Amino acid sequence: MSVNETPEQLEQYLALAVSCAKEAGALLLEGFEKQKTIDHKSSAVDWVTEYDRASEQLIVERLTAAFPEHGLVGEEGSRREGKDGYAWYVDPLDGTTNYAHQFPMFAVTLALYKDDVPLVGVVYDPLRDELFTAKVGQGAYLTRASGTQRLQVSGAQVLATSLLATGFPYDSHTSPHNNATELGFFVRKAQGIRRAGSAALDMAYVAAGRLDGYWEFKLFAWDMAAARLIVEEAGGRFTQPDGQPVKMDVQQSACVSNTHIHAEMLAVLAEAAQQRMRSI
Ligand code: IPD
Ligand code: CA
Ligand code: CA
Repeated sequence: MSVNETPEQLEQYLALAVSCAKEAGALLLEGFEKQKTIDHKSSAVDWVTEYDRASEQLIVERLTAAFPEHGLVGEEGSRREGKDGYAWYVDPLDGTTNYAHQFPMFAVTLALYKDDVPLVGVVYDPLRDELFTAKVGQGAYLTRASGTQRLQVSGAQVLATSLLATGFPYDSHTSPHNNATELGFFVRKAQGIRRAGSAALDMAYVAAGRLDGYWEFKLFAWDMAAARLIVEEAGGRFTQPDGQPVKMDVQQSACVSNTHIHAEMLAVLAEAAQQRMRSI
């Protein structure tokens, strides 16, 4: 990836993203055990709370004050065309279903891209105060109360000893492409499978070596933008389920791994897709 930004510029972008994520994380913590107002989005199971919106507003205000010329795409509707190819992708609350049920697993995530190249990315878990960050070409890191450590994906070599994570799309009640077939295949091949409910944290956990792989369909750029850079900077692989590179401009599916098990994961996804197509 060719990047013209100076190390100082990258550090400035990352510092801004971190302060946005921490401030928004504090706001989400305040609301976590409170009664929320629930609205529905694409389906009856796709919820949004006033905290998703307040978190996005806070982040967008901070980003706009610092870089009014940068483009912006936020899950809760914020859009701005930018100059010079810069675009921030913002998921102000990844794990809304968990958050609304007071299930303690959610994150704030944002990333800056230039001409589709990731520059910096942040995934912040406010409950555990775990901050996952990456700058392009400079590695991925986890910062918490005990200090900062460089992230490295796991060494698992085969699916049979791998712990995977996945998620299900918001049209899972109505679409045949709802990950049920793929789940059935992986459940027979992997050591274990988790559905923790925050795609960004699932992927950050692959970067941290806590998980060996992750797959999910129908994600948006705001779910993946930061975690993709964090995974790649930690030595992982991030592709579409057919092995093609991911793009940020459309709804996409992802296969994410420690690199070693990637081919095995892609083969399982291909086999499952064939069965799914036959049964439609
Ligand atoms: C969702 C979560 C979930 C994943 C969904 C995402 P949201 O994001 O990351 O784990 O399975 O695909 O849409 O709606 O809570 O920001
Ligand atoms: Ca999300
Ligand atoms: Ca969200």
